[in-house]
Amino acid sequence: MAFSFFKKNSETNNPTDDGLKVKQIIKETTDTVSLVFENPNWQYQSGQFLSLSFPIDGKEETRSYSLCSAPNTDQDLAVTVKRVEGGLISNYINDQVKEGDHIKVIAPAGVFTLPESKGNAFLFFGAGSGITPLFSMIKTILHQEADAHLTLVYTNRHEDSIIFKTSLAALEAQHANFKVIHILTRPTAEWQGKTGRLNADDIQAIYNEFPAKDQLHVYSCGPAPMMDLVAETLQKAGVAEQAIHQERFTASTGLTESESEEIVKQLVKIRLDGEEHEVEVNPDQTILEAALDQDIDMPFSCQSGLCTACRGRCTEGKVVMEEDDGLSEDELDGGYVLTCVSHPKSAGVVIEIE
Ligand SMILES: Cc1cc2nc3c(=O)[nH]c(=O)nc-3n(C[C@H](O)[C@H](O)[C@H](O)COP(=O)(O)OP(=O)(O)OC[C@H]3O[C@@H](n4cnc5c(N)ncnc54)[C@H](O)[C@@H]3O)c2cc1C
Ligand code: FES
Repeated sequence: MAFSFFKKNSETNNPTDDGLKVKQIIKETTDTVSLVFENPNWQYQSGQFLSLSFPIDGKEETRSYSLCSAPNTDQDLAVTVKRVEGGLISNYINDQVKEGDHIKVIAPAGVFTLPESKGNAFLFFGAGSGITPLFSMIKTILHQEADAHLTLVYTNRHEDSIIFKTSLAALEAQHANFKVIHILTRPTAEWQGKTGRLNADDIQAIYNEFPAKDQLHVYSCGPAPMMDLVAETLQKAGVAEQAIHQERFTASTGLTESESEEIVKQLVKIRLDGEEHEVEVNPDQTILEAALDQDIDMPFSCQSGLCTACRGRCTEGKVVMEEDDGLSEDELDGGYVLTCVSHPKSAGVVIEIE
């Protein structure tokens, strides 16, 4: 039976002035916490993320975190944050945030979501904190579709770094159609499961054993090399490119030296909500940064070229992007750019935000 996971974000998903209240903090592992927020009736889809902002040293710092809660099974909103060595916000959240705090949150966004309809076979590949959007998706599918086949391949360093270990085991025990394969790179001597790095042979073997290959959707979230390997191996095995979905937590590329040298100060015109603004963009700024400095009410979220919230169309002039993986080939051909990673490459650039 066809079913729909798709739920349009409500127009009431407006950030509140007070921020969202942290109702509970759950210590998931030694270096990971979950923040549970009281949900102000925001609608969202499994796989989407929130952007949290913190005033730090007089500057507002914003980072995106995938929702690990699922709209159908969890009343509240929750994100899970793993410490990044030397990272500003992940450590701040793990060390400083308390229950009862109010945090400025930008409403759920993102296109790493389940198919609108049809899809009864799902292979998930996660590593470390990359489990968060997958966990939400798994809960949604198990809640909505009894016939779906789901396998999660989850890689971690050791037993204690497995996030949601107990909850995943409980779901596996409860649903015969859900299987979890843990792979650990540095397990203790007691570990009975798979070890080492996920390689192409493992992926091929998991695919071969997967019981349902029709309408298969693959979702992966983890380091870029892992996701590239999953995509490459499964495409060779016959899985269509459009059926393989990835979420990246870190931006991968930057400008080459010669691209950087070409960037000089330029005036850029931005058309937004029927108004035209002229913005001076310095070589060390992105178009979004320069526009925000001029208090232009630009749409944005991750500021890393990942979420597409800042998408606009370059209708005149030339723009270079630090990375363009967030846009499809069609969007690139259509002149779309992500202003948060874009720099003017010529005079006379005009960007229309639609
Ligand atoms: C759409 C999206 C969803 C995300 N969801 C989650 C989530 O559910 N849980 C979660 O813990 N994180 C998630 N992230 C990552 C998160 O937004 C931050 O990037 C991360 O917490 C690091 O922020 P920081 O301020 O601590 O590090 P920063 O101070 O920004 O960076 C410090 C250093 O760490 C590197 N770095 C940044 N992020 C990572 C990373 N993830 N792994 C390794 N090195 C990194 C940076 O390149 C830099 O060198 C998500 C990111 C995106 C774009
Ligand atoms: S703000 Fe997320 S892609 Fe630009």
